[in-house]
This record gives sequence, structure tokens and C-alpha cells, in this order.
Amino acid sequence: TQENKALFIIFGGTGDLAKRKLYPSLFRLFRKGAIGKHFAVIGTARREWTNDHFREVVTESIKELNPTPKEIDSFTSHFYYQAHNVTNTEEYVTLEKLASELNEEYQLEGNRIFYLAMAPSFFGTIAQHIKSEHILSDDGFNRLIIEKPFGTDYKTAKELNDSISAAFTEDQIFRIDHYLGKEMVQNISAIRFGNNIFESLWNHHYIDNVQITLAESLGVEERGGYYDKSGALKDMVQNHILQVVALLAMEPPTIFSDRAIRTEKINALESIRIYNEEEVKENFVRGQYSSGLLGNNNFVGYHDEKDVDPTSSTETFVAGKFMIDTFRWSGVPFYIRTGKRLTEKGTRINIVFKPTPINVFRESTQSEELPENILTIYIQPTEGFSLTLNGKEVGPGFAVDPVKLNYRHSSETLENSPEAYEKLLLDCLKGDATNFTHWDEVAASWKIVDIIRQTWDKETGAIPTYSARTMGPKESFDLLEKDGRSWVWEP
Ligand code: BG6
Repeated sequence: TQENKALFIIFGGTGDLAKRKLYPSLFRLFRKGAIGKHFAVIGTARREWTNDHFREVVTESIKELNPTPKEIDSFTSHFYYQAHNVTNTEEYVTLEKLASELNEEYQLEGNRIFYLAMAPSFFGTIAQHIKSEHILSDDGFNRLIIEKPFGTDYKTAKELNDSISAAFTEDQIFRIDHYLGKEMVQNISAIRFGNNIFESLWNHHYIDNVQITLAESLGVEERGGYYDKSGALKDMVQNHILQVVALLAMEPPTIFSDRAIRTEKINALESIRIYNEEEVKENFVRGQYSSGLLGNNNFVGYHDEKDVDPTSSTETFVAGKFMIDTFRWSGVPFYIRTGKRLTEKGTRINIVFKPTPINVFRESTQSEELPENILTIYIQPTEGFSLTLNGKEVGPGFAVDPVKLNYRHSSETLENSPEAYEKLLLDCLKGDATNFTHWDEVAASWKIVDIIRQTWDKETGAIPTYSARTMGPKESFDLLEKDGRSWVWEP
């Protein structure tokens, strides 16, 4: 592995994300030699911490990776803490001083990665100060990694984008969608563009519908305050789901490079039909979990969760149908659903192929159509794919039955597969933006989602409910049923 040189400046260095994801990911990169002698981290946040305390926190955050005492020492010695109030201009001067000292000491060649891992309301201020107080280095690279949520609608997203664009060019901005770091989300491209048997069938002539499920078994946990203002539509559909749709729907890139892929993803997202209010009501449904029982466990309803308004009408579930107005996808529905407190955690994609033109076995199968071929991509918790084909049932006579070719990664592979954040950090170090979202993608996604939100905001009645640990409200099943279809995955 080649060593990368950079200074990381992490805004929100005492926060949950930094501790749970960033420090462990940096440590994995350190172990593999992707960063080594020539890296340093400045953690900043409001609190007054010493370097020693910061290093203890970092040590604690990598504990699960079983580091040796020697590894701990050499890794954490690269970490520095700087108390910092993001609205105070003078403190950026102190920050720059430390940054250039570390640049010298570790010979970082002027490479800087700014990581915004804190409340989005500060993103703009930070970016502007980085510019005005000359924290950008003159040699080496300057890159900005920015976490979701990127705005709360198109308008606020645009304002945010304009403010960070004052300091960084689009090429320097790496917008994180951690789903793009997942092994099997990246695998979508390999499956499509590495297999002629799929790519040649990947269109409305052969595909009947596409189903995307991002199910979570957990409730809102500790994030009730944030979630109650956001809801599933903004929390999951605007970003993760639409990114998956884009990867499934885009035209083949001419070459697998960030530029080529971004162009195709943008085209795909901009081809998704933007509904009017009537169409939203027709094609999108929402729900909220009420209490439920699974096994011996009793789960409280959303209204009884911590930091949630007991009269809240925030949706914890969304199902809907996207139509993509291109030659390739004409008439093919992309059904999506996501929710909290569903039956089990599971992210998967089902590509449902059209049946054969006629069923020549109709006398023995006693049906007009054969079961559909289905390609399933399992994203998590197991990773892999399966293909359902029709074969002859063993024995006399001629019955035709579906058989499933199943390929799931063993848990061993899973353990070694790098965490999404580790991969994304490495991509950023290398300047590869393939797995980050371009502004045009964010803009297109918000335009699609805004009208859905606005339509719902006008509705005053109670929103549908579903019992905790079930697969969502009845309306979600009805949505497919009225098209003569049903959800393939029913855990
Ligand atoms: C986040 C959402 O973006 O994704 C969370 O804010 C959600 O609400 C999470 O739980 C799901 O991510 P994963 O990787 O666990 O599927």
C-alpha cells in the first residue's frame, strides 16, 4: 500500500461520528500503511481538551480493533486537539498556526482534508472562515468532506452549496453518502457492467420492475430530536435510496472513472419523473410505527420515543414508485421502501424480470405465467447476490419450479471488508470522487423529494400506522397490489 500524506482537520472532533467511524477508520488505514509517518489530525470542537485527553479518547475509540500498546502510541501521537469556536474569527488564526506547524513537522506537503462532522448549521460559517483566514494551503491539495444532511430541501441545500462553494471548487468537495461506501452498493456496477447477461437485459424489454428495500429493525434510538424534524423521506430517500436508484438506472459509463460515472448518475436522477401533487398521492405512502410485540419483546410506539413530540405526524416509513423517463426505463416502476422498526434489518434490491412470452408448461404448472426470474442484490447484513431461475422439478411428470442460485459472502470476508468510512476516506486521500455525490445529484434529488414533502405537509389527517417490527403499513402493500404486483421480500 502506498502511503498518503495529509493533515486532517476534523470539525466536531469530540463528536459521536468522529469516535464511532472516523478514528477507527483512520486506524485501519494506518495499520494497512495507507497513512503512516506523514499524517496528522487536528480535532477541534467547543470543549477544552488537552492533547493527552484527546489521545485517550482516540485510544478508546479504536479499542475494538485490538491495537497493541506500540500501535496505540505511534498512532495517537499524530493527534492534536484545538478548542475552537467556529464563529470566532481569531481562533482560525490559531488553527492555521497549528496546521502549518504540523505540516512542517510531519512533512505533509501542504495536503489538507477538512472534515465537517458536526451540526450542518455551521457548515457555511466554517467554509467561509477557512477561506477568509487563509487556512487553505497553497501547495498540495485542499479537500472538504461534508456529512449529511446536505440541506433540508432544495432551497437550503442550494444556500449551503453556495456558501461552501465560496471557499471550495466542486472538485474539492466530497459529499458523503455512506451507502456509496458499502461493498455491495459498489458491486452494483460490477454486476451490471461486468456481465453481458445482465447488461443486455437491463431495460424495459426484459425488466418488469425494480424493488429497493432499506429496512431497519431499530427505532429512532437516541436521535428522536433530529429524526422528528426530518422523517424517513429526508433521512433515507433523498440520499441513500436515490443514490441506489441512480446506480441501477444510469446508462453505462464509457469508462469507470469518477467523471464518467457522475455524468451518468446525474442524467439518471434528472430523468426521474417529478410528480405533481395528485401523482404524489397516487404513488407515495408513508407510515409511523405504533407499539408492537415480537417474540417476548414489546416495542414502544414512535410517539413514546425519547425527544419525539407525542402528537408528531413525522413518517418513520415511506414506500413509493419512481418512474424514469428514458428509453431504457419507459414504463418500468422502481418501487422503494424504507422504515424504522421493521421486521428485520435488511437492505436489498430485487430486479424482477418479465416472464417468458408464453408458458409452454401451462398444463403441468396450471398457470398462465411462470414465476419471474429475480436477481437479488443483498447489501446488508449479508452481502452477495442470488438469481431465481425456473428448472424442472426432480421426478416423473413435468413440474417447473423456481431454483435459487445463491452467492453470499462468508462472514470471514465480511469481517475483512473495509468499513464504508475507511474506503471513503481513502478515496478522498487519493482524490477519487466516484463514491461521493456531486452537487447536481443533490439538487436533482431534492427537487424530486420536495414535492412529496410539500404534498404531505398540506394533508391534515392522521398518517397511517404500522405495528413495530412489521413490514410497514397496509398502504405499502396496496401500492404494489394496485399494479398487480407484490413485494418480493417478505421477511
Ligand atoms: C443514516 C440515517 O443516514 O443511515 C439513519 O440518518 C439510518 O437514520 C442510517 O439509521 C442507516 O445506515 P446503515 O448503514 O445502518 O444502513
